[in-house]
Amino acid sequence: MAIISSKQPAADGEQPPRARKKNTPKPLATPEPAVLADGDSELLQAEIATSEEKLQEESLRPSSIQEYIGQKELKGVLDIAIQAAKVRGESLDHLLLYGPPGLGKTTMSLILATEMGVNCKITAAPALERPRDIVGILMGLQPGDILFIDEIHRLPRMTEEILYPAMEDFRLDITVGKGTTAKIRSIPLPKFTLVGATTKVGSLTAPLRDRFGLVQKLRFYEVDDLTLIVQRTAEILSMSVTTEGAAEVARRARGTPRIANRLLKRVRDYAQVKGHPVIDEPIASAAMEIYNVDPLGLDWVDRLLLTTMAEQFNGGPVGLEALAASTGEDSHTIEEVYEPYLLQIGYLQRTPRGRVVTMAARKHLGLKGGNDGGDQLSILG
Ligand code: ADE
Repeated sequence: MAIISSKQPAADGEQPPRARKKNTPKPLATPEPAVLADGDSELLQAEIATSEEKLQEESLRPSSIQEYIGQKELKGVLDIAIQAAKVRGESLDHLLLYGPPGLGKTTMSLILATEMGVNCKITAAPALERPRDIVGILMGLQPGDILFIDEIHRLPRMTEEILYPAMEDFRLDITVGKGTTAKIRSIPLPKFTLVGATTKVGSLTAPLRDRFGLVQKLRFYEVDDLTLIVQRTAEILSMSVTTEGAAEVARRARGTPRIANRLLKRVRDYAQVKGHPVIDEPIASAAMEIYNVDPLGLDWVDRLLLTTMAEQFNGGPVGLEALAASTGEDSHTIEEVYEPYLLQIGYLQRTPRGRVVTMAARKHLGLKGGNDGGDQLSILG
């Protein structure tokens, strides 16, 4: 399988190498990052992937469905789709993968290409600004190839409209000429599979979403699966880690392999400096303490958000903008970076009237009082 990554696709139709072997993709066009606070909190943000980290991620990627840990339901669905497409000798249906960042959407796309024995062309919506960017890529595809578009919810309208006939009828409609003499020329395309990835499925237009035969969600990973991922990474990086040490890292990784692997590297630094050849639970836990990552993977911004809601807004409901103003955090960052995990672990609830901090969060932070369901029970009791 060749992996071809595009930052700026050539205007005149880039010709990807056809050799079907595994190679290393160049870095993707960098999406606009959410605005983040300085300091240790970046350790826990799945969005931030430095180019060095991206390169290392390549070497840690599982390369087959068997090797891929977790996401059982997704793997089940894709396994069937692969087998069916192979039996029929067809390309895979277009696939939309959605879910929080760092859960393995790109990895899954690369695995699909390997399993199907085709190339995977990787790009991202911000690199497809001009219509000719997508035209060049589409014209360079071979039968069966996978085209992976990250952040697909950010496609410009014209690019998206070029994709409609390409996805539906494998046809490129190009307007030739201008004004009243303009004509549409149709160019046939090879049958290919579009894999779109997004963290914001609700931001996709309905016509684009409807053109995907399969729409699948990636979920936060269970601690058991993350423990296995940490152990696998440790082995690849020739690190010695006990099961308990791996579990300690996994528990603090916010359900996200990218974060787990990042934490593991920080723990390795700590263990090395302290002269511990083996990473066990006490070492992993001590390392996490100095990086300000608490036993559930919360950092100081998470704690600030929850504490502010509890103490300044009597537990909520509080509007996003009010919370942003009170904490000095950017509202998009709160919504896209912090909230998903706090919602997942049941520390925050979103109600029509605003965000509410839960009893579980209060207990974790050692805070009293509040007005959510749990508190009402205690009042009644
Ligand atoms: N490394 C990162 N994510 C992984 C996964 N889901 N399975 C195995 N190794 C991984």
